[in-house]
Amino acid sequence: MMASMTGASGWAAQVRRLFFVAMAVFLVTIVIGILNGLDVVEFNRDQLLTHVHSGTLGWITLSLIAASAWFLRGIDGRLAAGMAILVPVYVAAFYLAIPALRAVAGAALLIMVLWLVVWAWGVYREHRTLPTLAIALGFTTFTYGAVIGVLRQVQLAGGPTFFPPTADVVGAHASAMVFSYLILVAMGLLEWRILGTKGLPKLAVIQVGALFAGGMILSFTLLFLSGDALQAAGGVDLLVNVVAVALFAIRVLPSAFRGGVGRHFAMSAAFVIVAVALVLYVVSKFISDPSLATDPTPITGILIASDHSAFIGVITNLVLGVLLAATADRASRWPWADQVALWGTNLGLIVFVAGLITATTILKQIGAPVMGVSLLVALAALAMRLRDSEVVPAA
Ligand code: HEM
Ligand code: HEM
Repeated sequence: MMASMTGASGWAAQVRRLFFVAMAVFLVTIVIGILNGLDVVEFNRDQLLTHVHSGTLGWITLSLIAASAWFLRGIDGRLAAGMAILVPVYVAAFYLAIPALRAVAGAALLIMVLWLVVWAWGVYREHRTLPTLAIALGFTTFTYGAVIGVLRQVQLAGGPTFFPPTADVVGAHASAMVFSYLILVAMGLLEWRILGTKGLPKLAVIQVGALFAGGMILSFTLLFLSGDALQAAGGVDLLVNVVAVALFAIRVLPSAFRGGVGRHFAMSAAFVIVAVALVLYVVSKFISDPSLATDPTPITGILIASDHSAFIGVITNLVLGVLLAATADRASRWPWADQVALWGTNLGLIVFVAGLITATTILKQIGAPVMGVSLLVALAALAMRLRDSEVVPAA
């Protein structure tokens, strides 16, 4: 129904517009990331939050909506336009650091997020497949994660406090968002691109269900529990995530490395394991050493390494792979740019991650700009392809 509303060339224009906005906002993330990595600018908290949300909301969420519009040959134009306008406004609100503007823009965005999740479950009801289930579950986490984020904004803007004084609100928001939103949606899209799953295989449902449950357990724990209960819930979280990642490793990973899948998708699948393994290491440290709850400095680098393995390794590889597939009717004007996009981004990321894990400044100073410049090259080449392409319908 949605597709017929926009028409054949209409959906292609919609996909193109969403990807262009996503790419434009990603430039902000990348520029801050390069300067931060080189240690030439000392960014304050608001600027770091701009880096984080231009990446997670601007680049990633808008790209995931664009990929959905590609998959479904068009989505509701008002939903697409509302997201494409409000996300950049909200990212700007982080940069401008006016608490009231952030609370209001966040609340407006929350309404769009609610629309998005209702829409995603509607898509699932029409096409009951593992990919659509994972996307609907992922957007459900996105919704409660956004609620936590907006409540925190209201609190920071001088409004009422909604959580107990012991709550780790930022931890609850961030951990659910990264793993039970992003990695979950990525698992759905990888399942589609790598295995082409049409139904709901039992093991696959357990895999995505476990990852979804892990986010709920961790968020609830960080918001409402303390002391021994925190340790126990941490153990349960560890267990469900091990189940999820083991099932993914057995079911999906081997096929990712068979020919014909696309190299960015194979990289993305491999980084699912890296990102989850690193965060599970962090959770296990928290369980074994309660003093980290008050001073997490010793493991912050590993957490940021896990985050970038998810943001760049899993999701950005996935989006670049989708962009290449959607523009397959056009050859690259610069064939070398495809190599830079693949190898520069991923080798830069590996060096950056190694620097963060081992706290080696020079590795971070080399890895971050290599990754950032490679991404700029990738975006330039893909933006030209997208402009020229008719947008190939998704298989
Ligand atoms: C979707 C994309 C991205 C997201 C969501 C993201 C998110 C984050 C987060 C959450 C942090 C931790 C902030 C803090 O200290 O509280 C961070 C730090 C950082 N990011 Fe990114 N990032 C992204 C892409 C990039 C890129 C492309 C680069 C490099 C060009 C980069 C370079 C850095 C650097 C250098 C740090 C500081 C690390 C440190 O020394 O502690 N990021 N980012
Ligand atoms: C409507 C959506 C969102 C809202 C309202 C929101 C709000 C916030 C707020 C207020 C903070 C800072 C809390 C503080 O400093 O006390 C924050 C931090 C953070 N957010 Fe979001 N956020 C949203 C979406 C996302 C998404 C989609 C992701 C990831 C996929 C994400 C990841 C993070 C991370 C990792 C941090 C911690 C950054 C750090 O401490 O370095 N957020 N968010």
